[in-house]
Amino acid sequence: MREGLHETEIERDPIRQFQLWFDEAIAAKLPMPDAMSLATVTPDGRPTARMVLLKQVDADGFVFFTNYNSNKAKQLEINPYAALVFYWSQFERQVRVEGKVSKTAAEESAAYFATRPRESQIGAWASPQSEVISAREVLEQRAHELAEQYCDRDIDCPAHWGGFRLVPDRIEFWKGRAGRLHDRILYELQPDESWTIKRLAP
Ligand SMILES: Cc1cc2nc3c(=O)[nH]c(=O)nc-3n(C[C@H](O)[C@H](O)[C@H](O)COP(=O)(O)O)c2cc1C
Repeated sequence: MREGLHETEIERDPIRQFQLWFDEAIAAKLPMPDAMSLATVTPDGRPTARMVLLKQVDADGFVFFTNYNSNKAKQLEINPYAALVFYWSQFERQVRVEGKVSKTAAEESAAYFATRPRESQIGAWASPQSEVISAREVLEQRAHELAEQYCDRDIDCPAHWGGFRLVPDRIEFWKGRAGRLHDRILYELQPDESWTIKRLAP
């Protein structure tokens, strides 16, 4: 993975280029290759970032799941523009993705929720994400009660839980090279849905 990025060799479509790098990160068993920093903006214009997991990527965009009452979800409700950053350190590769976010369809969220481990499903019901809680015990007690309540029954996807899909309009690939002469290739979406490709100075 020491090789650089060459305009003549990269994919014309940045999603395909992303998939190549992502597949290589998975194949190499890098730790949490799907972990990405998600940056949003608060109503008073302050950037704020946290890690989330990429659950799907294809021509339609980048999907992650979360609590729709969380801070990030409330911020995205007001300002749907967001940024993602992936960093695969062993490969000296960074990918920055920017674009507009919208909620996934309720059926899509429910279908993914159904595949989650039971304790994660209970956690989604038990945790009022981003709210202040008085003690850890409150959370544990709630999870315990919910586990008893559901017993052997299937756990429905909460209405306050689901996915967001970021549709990219800028994707930048960064590859570390010797002597700090790194490669940076920026793809920008044009009004006719084509992508321009530019090289940026490192
Ligand atoms: C590696 C990692 C992966 C995470 N994945 C998710 C995720 O997929 N969805 C999520 O809601 N929170 C995830 N979290 C927790 C978030 O970073 C964050 O604490 C939480 O979503 C609340 O953020 P908010 O208050 O800004 O909404 C993850 C944290 C880490 C460290």
